[in-house]
Amino acid sequence: MTPKEEIEKLRKELDEHNHNYYVLNQPTISDYEFDQLMYKLQDLEMFYPQYADPNSPTQRVGSDLNQSFKAVPHKYPMLSLANTYNEQDVREFYERVKSGLEGEEFEICAEMKYDGLSISLTYVDGELTQAVTRGDGVQGDDVTANVRTIRSIPLKLREGSGYPHEFEIRGEILLPWTSFENLNEERAKAEEPLFANPRNAASGTLKSQSSRVVAKRGLDAYLYYLLGDEIGNDSGHYENLKKAEEWGFKISQGMKKCRSVEEVLEFIDYWDKERKNLPVATDGIVLKVNSLRQQRHLGYTAKSPRWAIAYKFKAERACTRLNEVTYQVGRTGAITPVANMDAVLLAGTMVKRASLHNADIINELDLHVGDMVYVEKGGEIIPKVVGVDKAQRTPDLQKVEFIKTCPECGAQLVRYEGEAAHYCPNDTSCPPQIKGRIEHFISRKAMNIDSLGPETVDDYFKRGLISDVSDLYSLTVADICGFNKNRVKSAQKVVDAVKNTVNVPFERVVFAIGIRFVGETTAKLLARYFKSMEALKSATLEQLLEVDGVGAIIAESIIRFFQDEKNIEIIDKLASYGVQMQLSEEQIQGQTDKLKGMSVVISGVFSHHSRDEYKAMIEKNGGKNVGSISAKTSFILAGENMGPSKLEKANKLGVRIVNEEEFLEMIS
Ligand code: IVH
Repeated sequence: MTPKEEIEKLRKELDEHNHNYYVLNQPTISDYEFDQLMYKLQDLEMFYPQYADPNSPTQRVGSDLNQSFKAVPHKYPMLSLANTYNEQDVREFYERVKSGLEGEEFEICAEMKYDGLSISLTYVDGELTQAVTRGDGVQGDDVTANVRTIRSIPLKLREGSGYPHEFEIRGEILLPWTSFENLNEERAKAEEPLFANPRNAASGTLKSQSSRVVAKRGLDAYLYYLLGDEIGNDSGHYENLKKAEEWGFKISQGMKKCRSVEEVLEFIDYWDKERKNLPVATDGIVLKVNSLRQQRHLGYTAKSPRWAIAYKFKAERACTRLNEVTYQVGRTGAITPVANMDAVLLAGTMVKRASLHNADIINELDLHVGDMVYVEKGGEIIPKVVGVDKAQRTPDLQKVEFIKTCPECGAQLVRYEGEAAHYCPNDTSCPPQIKGRIEHFISRKAMNIDSLGPETVDDYFKRGLISDVSDLYSLTVADICGFNKNRVKSAQKVVDAVKNTVNVPFERVVFAIGIRFVGETTAKLLARYFKSMEALKSATLEQLLEVDGVGAIIAESIIRFFQDEKNIEIIDKLASYGVQMQLSEEQIQGQTDKLKGMSVVISGVFSHHSRDEYKAMIEKNGGKNVGSISAKTSFILAGENMGPSKLEKANKLGVRIVNEEEFLEMIS
């Protein structure tokens, strides 16, 4: 691989992981692995500046903004910390601080790094007035109503405890291990999908529309950072938090002021083991220069303070026996090999299954059935096999041979060029693929038939009621009930809900039909560009490539999809049931070409419309909303409080800045 290819590959991988983490909330690798990939890319980009790209993941800051909560600007930006992973890094941090302070004595406050969601709480006159998530660091979601239900967050501070008139306190919201386990147990009983880890559960909970749900879940909060105009400038961080404890907050556990790097390393060593006894998830130690005056002297880089650093714990590892490799078939036919092992305790839970990802990884590991394997769990996500203890291998063990045929339908597996996964090509009659496509079709962002779920789909499929998505439309109450007359009410609900999908807009239909690689955004772009299924169906490769955001892989996949007779048949049937096969008059009418071919970045806080509304306006007028500023950006739609780094970049690249009024004028 040339350096350029490697850079591109890493960017693609990191973009994917960013999406999994920030959008889907379902990371597939640990933070440690993610950071390693990021460092590798940063190194390569530094070495080969000729391949610099302002859209590289190294240039990007994540965002957890959610449309259903009001976005509010942070008074002080919410920064993140630089990560370190070993003793050497810690020593280097210590030396940097030392030389930055030019020989002055200093103390380091060491404390737990909590693995939850950061939150910023504002108190005025001793009462909680606002709780805001980190968001993109500049603005976050107002989740005050939900936060008010968290019992460990004081709504009123303790009287006479000497709190300042107004201040902000930041910390982490967490779901304790026991609540997490109880919640997953309940969800398992209700056949709802389980949360992968307490962080995802906490994040899902905090963004819940109903604060009643939040109250029931038992969230907890630890506070670790105090700021405000009245926060003593001559004091120390440790002392401030101790005061906050008196005001009524739950603060970082085991905080310690260290006077030498040895003391810091001792603290890390101690908590690496002891943290397993804590009630909540931690993923490292945070080290902060204690004196606020010295903190100010050291200052900040563009992204993080120079006075603090996070040391991340190594992922936990266990060794156990591999008994069998089984294979799962996904909606797209992708085959996932799974290691079935003797149960072993790992990071507080019993593990007996782990992902093996694909055939290459199995080969690289040189896996044999019966091997003693190392299993790792980073950030409490799905565990994975990371190595084999070959010293324990006996000569009778058989090498794992990747299957050649589909375990569900027996079809010969295929491997597409450039892809790591094997696929079952039998998409028309392989059961998990059929069920998967139906599940995708009914999902919230597609046709949103919420009275159906994976279990009902499975049930209908097994009873021969449905074998593709169009069959949903001919279902009758009698079909669904069979001999069970108790089901009439719920059956009627299903029939009605399916009927209702004739109102689902065309762009979501394009997403729902399940063209490989066509996600929600691409479906929208395609719908706007071609305006009808008929036009999309007969589009040539060249025409498809003209659509912004559609590359060769997506275009070819669309062509392949419409070449399949079976798909055409299903779409024709859907059309005959009244499913939208074109943009509505209203959508077409509102559409203009005023921003055709333009890439627009949205930044800051707006007063006339929400960010999402502006995004929709850009798209409606033929433009594209992009995340980061590059030389290709046509203009920035800027509200109040546009981030300073964005502003600097815009000025450097000479990108035009347009305010709300100017923008509305542009498209009027
Ligand atoms: S201090 C300016 N202390 O880790 C410094 N952060 O990238 C502000 N975190 O987003 C952060 N435990 O959510 C600090 N004891 C702790 C922490 C902590 C967890 C999170 C925080 C931040 C991330 C660091």
